[in-house]
Amino acid sequence: MAQVVLKNISKIFTNSKGRAIHALRDASLTVEQGEFMVIVGPSGSGKSTLLRLIAGLEDTTSGTISIGGNIANNVPPQDRDIAMVFQNYALYPHMTVYENIAFGLKLRKVPKTEIDRLVRETGDSLGLTAHLDSLPMVLSGGQKQRVALGRAIVRKPSVFLFDEPLSNLDARMRAQMRMELSKLHKSLGVTMIFVTHDQVEAMSLGDRIAVICDGVIQQVAGPIQLYDDPVNLFVAGFIGSPPMNLFSGMLLKRENEVLFQMRSETGKVSENAISFRLDQTATQALNGGGSREVILGLRPEDIGVSETIPVHNQEGPNCVSITEAIVEHVEPLGPETYLYSKAGTAQFTARVRADFSVAANQRIRLGFNMRRAHIFDPATQNRIGP
Ligand SMILES: Nc1ncnc2c1ncn2[C@@H]1O[C@H](COP(=O)(O)OP(=O)(O)OP(=O)(O)O)[C@@H](O)[C@H]1O
Ligand SMILES: [Mg+2]
Repeated sequence: MAQVVLKNISKIFTNSKGRAIHALRDASLTVEQGEFMVIVGPSGSGKSTLLRLIAGLEDTTSGTISIGGNIANNVPPQDRDIAMVFQNYALYPHMTVYENIAFGLKLRKVPKTEIDRLVRETGDSLGLTAHLDSLPMVLSGGQKQRVALGRAIVRKPSVFLFDEPLSNLDARMRAQMRMELSKLHKSLGVTMIFVTHDQVEAMSLGDRIAVICDGVIQQVAGPIQLYDDPVNLFVAGFIGSPPMNLFSGMLLKRENEVLFQMRSETGKVSENAISFRLDQTATQALNGGGSREVILGLRPEDIGVSETIPVHNQEGPNCVSITEAIVEHVEPLGPETYLYSKAGTAQFTARVRADFSVAANQRIRLGFNMRRAHIFDPATQNRIGP
């Protein structure tokens, strides 16, 4: 077990045309001892680079990496007490499962009887006992992934690094391996850093999640906090599926209420635009001014069918604004239904109960729960309101 601390890490690669590529920019991150930290971000955002720097497979351009309290920048990979598991398993095809798991211990000259004990114990804990004599080619994707895990676990490292280890598996096997990884993390109590581009995987595995985009760490927080309190438009749009709805328009103060007016076809905000009354806490986004351009974010589950919203709430303290919308597409998923809808110029998704019956092109009344709205600055992309 060890704490991993990254301080102001930058990594610049030079591509074949001699152009500098900033893979990481001033990234700082503390992974606590025994924590399960997930790094999530789109392709090319610098996730693998971050892991490879921790493992010592790449050198930093600037910044320091500490592992277990010691600066590790100049420590060679094999002395960092770290095990890395990759997406493609990287098993030795001509060795049996037993030999694959034993390989690292053999290199370290661990006594044979001790190797045998460790390999059997690890194989048993991963459900591989019946396959110890098999070659990797006869195993399923999930079993191969478990062998790759076994090879990492058997060395008892203080930090595990995972680079998208589940992305070659089918959906059912991925869900099962997620559960097994969580159990493994609890039983070993070891520090784990797990890279994925899948936000569902991130939410289900991470004690905390670091969201990264273009080499910049955007936010580090627990899954629910990331979902409820995104710091900027990138995090708001990346975490959650279907993503948060974003509406462009104007925030303005009227006597003692705060309104959001949606932008119209012409790009203008007019008196008869669709408008929502907001909670008083939205005043903070005005920063003392009378109005400003904003982007308003509202999650699909915060838009509901208006029959289910009591009428007295329409203009009441609950800040539910009712608007007429046209349903463009209906997606019945079983437990719930997504309505891809349009009101004015805005397209958005509402998440409603499965028993709500509606067809495409139908007009319905939807309630927008403004208590749950977030306000962002279109210029900086940062969240400036509740
Ligand atoms: N050895 C290298 N030489 C030049 N550029 C590199 C090198 N390794 C990575 N890069 C660049 O650095 C950036 C970050 O790459 P990285 O592999 O860390 O992204 P990633 O988030 O892991 O993406 P993915 O989800 O596709 O695996 C990319 O623009 C990539 O092209
Ligand atoms: Mg990668």
